[in-house]
Amino acid sequence: MAKISSKFVCQECGTVSPQWLGKCPGCGKFGTLVEETDAPEEVVGSIAVPTSKPTALKDIENVKYARISTGIKELDTVLGGGVVPYSIVLIGGDPGIGKSTILTQVSGEIAKTQRVLYVSAEESLSHVKLRCERLSITAENLMVLNECRLEHIEKVAEDYDFIVIDSIQAIYLSSLSGSAGSVGQVKECASRLMRLAKSKHKTVFVIGHVTKDGGLAGPKVLEHIVDTVLYFEGEPQDSLKLLRAVKNRFGSAQEVGVFEMTDVGIKEVSDFSGVFMSENRGAQAGSVVTQSVSGNRVVPVEVQSLISKTVFGMPRRMPIGVDYNRMVLILAVLERRAYLPFFNQDVYVNAMGGIKLTEPSSDLAVCLSLASAVKNTPIEKTTTAFGEVGLTGEVRAVSFAEKRVQNAIKLGFKKVIIPKRNYENVKKYADKITIVPVSFVSQAIKEGLPNATNE
Ligand code: TYD
Ligand code: MG
Repeated sequence: MAKISSKFVCQECGTVSPQWLGKCPGCGKFGTLVEETDAPEEVVGSIAVPTSKPTALKDIENVKYARISTGIKELDTVLGGGVVPYSIVLIGGDPGIGKSTILTQVSGEIAKTQRVLYVSAEESLSHVKLRCERLSITAENLMVLNECRLEHIEKVAEDYDFIVIDSIQAIYLSSLSGSAGSVGQVKECASRLMRLAKSKHKTVFVIGHVTKDGGLAGPKVLEHIVDTVLYFEGEPQDSLKLLRAVKNRFGSAQEVGVFEMTDVGIKEVSDFSGVFMSENRGAQAGSVVTQSVSGNRVVPVEVQSLISKTVFGMPRRMPIGVDYNRMVLILAVLERRAYLPFFNQDVYVNAMGGIKLTEPSSDLAVCLSLASAVKNTPIEKTTTAFGEVGLTGEVRAVSFAEKRVQNAIKLGFKKVIIPKRNYENVKKYADKITIVPVSFVSQAIKEGLPNATNE
């Protein structure tokens, strides 16, 4: 087979070089040259359509795909209700987090009804067998292939409906120079798999290891190619893992699933209301629960703050699970609008359970938690809060207020501090929970910490 010739293109300025160089001769930046194939790229999207003539919207057939259940309810939820047939799903995560484990379980389940091919490019067949025994997978027609060359995988895959590639960094196209796992290989392999999924009607799961700097084999080269991107997150020493949808062409991209790694595989944690909150909150100053929305669900998350006097030099600001810039902004708002002193204090903020609070609606809880820490007064265990905080100190309305209040009621909270602009929507719940509408952070602090002394 003729070698596909390749070129090296600078990702910053587009300079083309016939060989790899550490420094781009065009813009002078280091490490920006990436191998690309010279062959014209086929357009992936048009493969599924036999003709490339334009079609009027009204003439396009409505095809209803029945989603396939993976056998793990939390995973189905994160995918938006199961896997869409003929789609390609990427599962990313640190090495050792459980990607192979969860997809082996899924393969075992789907093999009961469909022809499944598990391509293990990293582990030998006996290793896969060992894992299957540990996971008590009995599906006899689950086929395992130990192969790295994509050309061969494509040929074998023709006879199967559901294909798992473990992992994309371990497979390669022999027609392309560059070692397995290089950006050029990964990109080309992923587009070939995408073509396979769309043109030959296969459902493909791809495993991708996150590299040291947090990207998937280089600058997010895979994410735009595949249909769905899920990331496995969690501390290696912690058995709790979060599966987060980052991109989903067929569902919500904010969904989070909670899993636990046990000695017999990955189990879903369906009642996660206690996962991100501690039982003894309210005893110490600095903690408050917010109602965070991810996808279709509301997740109660405890925000904890600790402050300690700066001994020398610059005060430290260290957030975990809360954006650094957001936290610095909130500290400035609290200093100027609520007159709370942080200039000589080290500040640590933590969202419990390893979850990341990306929504602005968690601002108010961060404010209250910091205020409680600096006033050294605990907030009632049964109080919860949500709302976005602006630079002027105003508390701004957030979306899904009703859902959040309903969740607070369900979990037995007695008091919820909310933005005033959201009050109209939720006042019907006033007989079930004390709703405190606030317009400014100073007012929220007074309501959340009624017993605090003004220092
Ligand atoms: P694995 O799925 O191989 O990780 P990845 O494919 O993401 O690199 O998971 C490896 C870890 O999971 C390893 O430390 C062993 C542990 N493990 C369990 O705790 N229980 C199990 O049932 C299995 C199969 C693995
Ligand atoms: Mg693995």
